[in-house]
Amino acid sequence: MRPEFAGEDEQQLPLTILARGDLDRWKQGAGDAAARWAEANGFEGRSGQMLLVPDEQGRIREVLAGAAREQGRDSRFWLASILERLPAANYRLTNDLPADERDEAALASLLAQYVPAGQNHQEATLARMAAPKGIDGNRLRVIAESEFMTRDLINAPASALTPDRLEQAVRDLADECGAGLRVIKGFELARTCPLTHAVGRSSEHSPRMAELRWGSKGRSLTLVGKGVCFDTGGLNIKPGKAMLLMKKDMAGAAIAIGLGRMITRLDLPLRLRILLPIAENAISDRAFRPGDVLTSSSGVRVEITNTDAEGRLLLADALELAREDEDDLLVSFATLTGAARVALGPEIVPFYTANDRLADMLAEAAIRVRDPLWRLPIWSPYQELLKSTVADLANSSESGHAGSITAVLFLLRFVQSPERFLHFDLYGWQNTPAPGRPVGGTGQAGRALLATIEEYLC
Ligand code: BES
Ligand code: MN
Ligand code: ZN
Repeated sequence: MRPEFAGEDEQQLPLTILARGDLDRWKQGAGDAAARWAEANGFEGRSGQMLLVPDEQGRIREVLAGAAREQGRDSRFWLASILERLPAANYRLTNDLPADERDEAALASLLAQYVPAGQNHQEATLARMAAPKGIDGNRLRVIAESEFMTRDLINAPASALTPDRLEQAVRDLADECGAGLRVIKGFELARTCPLTHAVGRSSEHSPRMAELRWGSKGRSLTLVGKGVCFDTGGLNIKPGKAMLLMKKDMAGAAIAIGLGRMITRLDLPLRLRILLPIAENAISDRAFRPGDVLTSSSGVRVEITNTDAEGRLLLADALELAREDEDDLLVSFATLTGAARVALGPEIVPFYTANDRLADMLAEAAIRVRDPLWRLPIWSPYQELLKSTVADLANSSESGHAGSITAVLFLLRFVQSPERFLHFDLYGWQNTPAPGRPVGGTGQAGRALLATIEEYLC
């Protein structure tokens, strides 16, 4: 499925966004019959309202969409919910919108076309919108296509998206953009990425570290993505309800792949490296255990106090590997903690960085491109919570306090330059249908980061 704008030469119906205050002006120009039609249908320009206006022959003459953004409600990509209800045809926006709203509307028209694979009774939206004047159509198409790819990966059940298949997804990206790919497995993995190996060795689908390298000019960026294809919790098994959605525990990797596709397709002047630790946190007689003490490749000794805090173990290996490169920016994407959801809910992604300038740019970009993020503090006194009596640190804290912050403090033990490090603790899932975002896997933080690195690194 390829998101597309309506073709230039096809017939296009005018689509006008009207706020309540604009309605009278529209009525004056539209003629008596159309004005009465709007009244008869109760169209007032309220948010979410939509009206098909017929001509004398009973054909659709134009479409009106209510503009007002409802206060306090997440109405991102609201135009998508209009398009999802429109008959199959081509439409053309008649409004002149400010640049950010115009881009949002255009991207919404593409995101409205997503249908999760394997869903019963869900039909594709066949309304297409022409690319509004002034947008970068190619860019938005690349963004939407990459988002669809991320969603498809998250939505695939763990029985289909095994570590092999997730590796294949990053291999496909490498082939497509002419990047180099290295995959570390088996004995070599146990030696170079011992924590990932310990988490993944219990599964018949073997763990691995995939590494993609692309580009030879510009500054260097490494993206790390948590690739847990399924998280049972390990021997500290999750209760059924908490396990139900754990096929999405590779959303960080799916987002890193999607963002990697955006970067390579847009040919950004960067040296890109993607590191994906991939494993299934399964249960078997080979599973790692609470009380085990693992040693990272740089010699950090980690006491396993909870096998369900597996994501940070995978990321630790990737962060240690990333050290070779002295990156200008090192980013990790991970569905790391339930605590992040308790703090901010599913739609707002907390991010952590010691770099104030980067944080400000990111927060601004998040608003501009409608990819909501919120900075949380790296509060080092909480390092106390990860103290271990038998190792350098524990992989989880007993207290349960500040779970998302203690997770990033764990990661920071493996990072060389905190000033150049950025971490997203994301959810990767849409629980209730929203415009352009059906229930299921969803990319988060990638678009905001794309907009940020174009300024910060390019
Ligand atoms: N993958 C989970 C975190 C998660 C759960 C993300 C639900 C999104 C939605 C992670 O591996 C995990 O289990 N974390 C534990 C950490 C704890 C044991 C310190 C958690 O959050 O409960
Ligand atoms: Mn877990
Ligand atoms: Zn997990």
